[in-house]
Amino acid sequence: MRLQVVDHPLVAHKLTTLRDKRTDSPTFRRLADELVTLLAYEATRDVRTEQADIVTPVGPTTGVKLSYPRPLVVPILRAGLGMLDGMVRLLPTAEVGFLGMVRNEETLEASTYATRMPEDLSGRQVYVVDPMLATGGTLVAAIKELIKRGADDVTAVVLLAAPEGVEIMERELAGTPVTVVTAAVDERLNEHGYIVPGLGDAGDRMYGSA
Ligand code: URA
Repeated sequence: MRLQVVDHPLVAHKLTTLRDKRTDSPTFRRLADELVTLLAYEATRDVRTEQADIVTPVGPTTGVKLSYPRPLVVPILRAGLGMLDGMVRLLPTAEVGFLGMVRNEETLEASTYATRMPEDLSGRQVYVVDPMLATGGTLVAAIKELIKRGADDVTAVVLLAAPEGVEIMERELAGTPVTVVTAAVDERLNEHGYIVPGLGDAGDRMYGSA
C-alpha cells in the first residue's frame, strides 16, 4: 500500500475550514467537494490514457484521452456520496458503483448493507471515496471486496486519515496495488473511534443529521 499526503496550501486552507466546528453544513459540503477535486487531481496522476488523433482549427495533432475500460468511482455510503461529484467532475468517463457500509459504534466493525457495482472489475482502475480513514475497518473491507472482483489498481481518496487506520491498511493490504490519497494524517483516534483533532462526524456535518 502506498500513502500520499497532498501537500498544497489550498488543500490545507480548505481542510482547516472543514475542521472548524462553526462551519455549517452547506459550507462543509461545498468545501468537501472542492477539496475532493484537488485530491482527485493528485489521485488520478496515473489514470490510464490512450492516444487520440484530433484536428484543431489549425491542423491535425495527436493527444491523449482517458482509455477503456472506464475507471470506476465507488463512494462508500453515506458520507462518501458527498465526495462523488468532485471525483466525476475530473473523471467524466467514469462509471459509478456504490457500496453501503456501516460501522458498529461499539465494536467499530464494518459490515456491508448494499452493493451496486459490476461483478467483474478485472483490468479496471477503481477510485473508492470515503471522507475518513479512522479505524480502517470500512475501507479495508471495501477494498478487499473490490480486489475480490478483480480490481488490479485501487486508489482510496479520503479527506483525513488516522495513523491507526493507515497502519491497519498497511497490514491488511500489504502487497496489494492500493494507494491512499489524503489531505492529512492526524494525531490519533479517541476512545470512540473519532479522529483527533479531525473534523467530527463527516456524515453528520455534510447532511446535518445523525
Ligand atoms: N468517521 C467520522 O465521520 N469521523 C471520524 O472522526 C471517524 C470516523
